[in-house]
Amino acid sequence: MKILANDGIDAVGKQMLEAAGIVVDTQKIAQEDLINRLNEYDGITVRSATKVRKDLIDACPNLKIICRGGVGMDNIDVAYARSKGILVSNTPASSSTAVAELVMAHIFTCVRFLHRSNRLFLKSDADLFNQLKKEYGNGVELYEKTLGIVGFGRIGQELARIATGVGMKVLAYDIVAPTNYEGAAEFCSDINEIFSHSDFISLHTPAQKDGLPLIGAEQFGRMKQGVGIVNTSRGGIIDELALLTNLDSNKVAFAALDVFENEPQPREALLNHPKISVSPHIGAATLEAQERIGIELAQIVIDFAAKK
Ligand code: 3PG
Repeated sequence: MKILANDGIDAVGKQMLEAAGIVVDTQKIAQEDLINRLNEYDGITVRSATKVRKDLIDACPNLKIICRGGVGMDNIDVAYARSKGILVSNTPASSSTAVAELVMAHIFTCVRFLHRSNRLFLKSDADLFNQLKKEYGNGVELYEKTLGIVGFGRIGQELARIATGVGMKVLAYDIVAPTNYEGAAEFCSDINEIFSHSDFISLHTPAQKDGLPLIGAEQFGRMKQGVGIVNTSRGGIIDELALLTNLDSNKVAFAALDVFENEPQPREALLNHPKISVSPHIGAATLEAQERIGIELAQIVIDFAAKK
């Protein structure tokens, strides 16, 4: 069996595959060339960069397995691939801690203006020091504040665990109530309860199938004055223009964005905005998460190969 790991794979996962007799090619084939080259392989592993759409699937009848090292599968035409008998899988168990920690890092950053301070405090100048000390002198604490989590799967639940550990109250909403949840978050049956009661809101839903934002002008209108909002899930879940309007009117105190509508070239108005902390889609990008992902992914491919 020969696999193309087009967006890379952690060394441990690669070794597992090779030990099982599977050939792993880690060369990066450009998206436009895949249509002519992917049929040389039995399977492909991807992160979010490589797209596996219907036209590529149709051009590669040899393809038997598509494995997404990570959670979101919006870069793959999953239903179509499955209709062709291809096994499609992600690695849902591996990156929750990494994403949840990034959310907390962004919230801690924003409530103490670290993103601004790091951008502006660039020279040894007493006037600048005193000006910034004054400007950033009204930070707030997370202790006893309310964090609303929209989407309460593995990542949302891990975030709740960390947030309760720093003394936050956690409200959670999901379209499907979690089974066997034993943590301290309070589950809301109506998403509007999250909007109206949270000091900070973090989004953990998949890309919306209809392409419409989950958070737009109406939802911002329901939120508390001075709310902070974090999106580490998918671009497009927040209406970016409505977000800018609500930041500029001070309804929203800050936003933290790891994902954007136009990746990899997000709107500059977001990147330059003084109330937005940004990162380039690095939620799952820790050494530990990528190793776990590599191992989970390798096991899926090995199990598949063993059944053939
Ligand atoms: C995911 O869906 O797992 C994350 O968005 C990570 O995407 P990445 O593998 O491209 O970093």
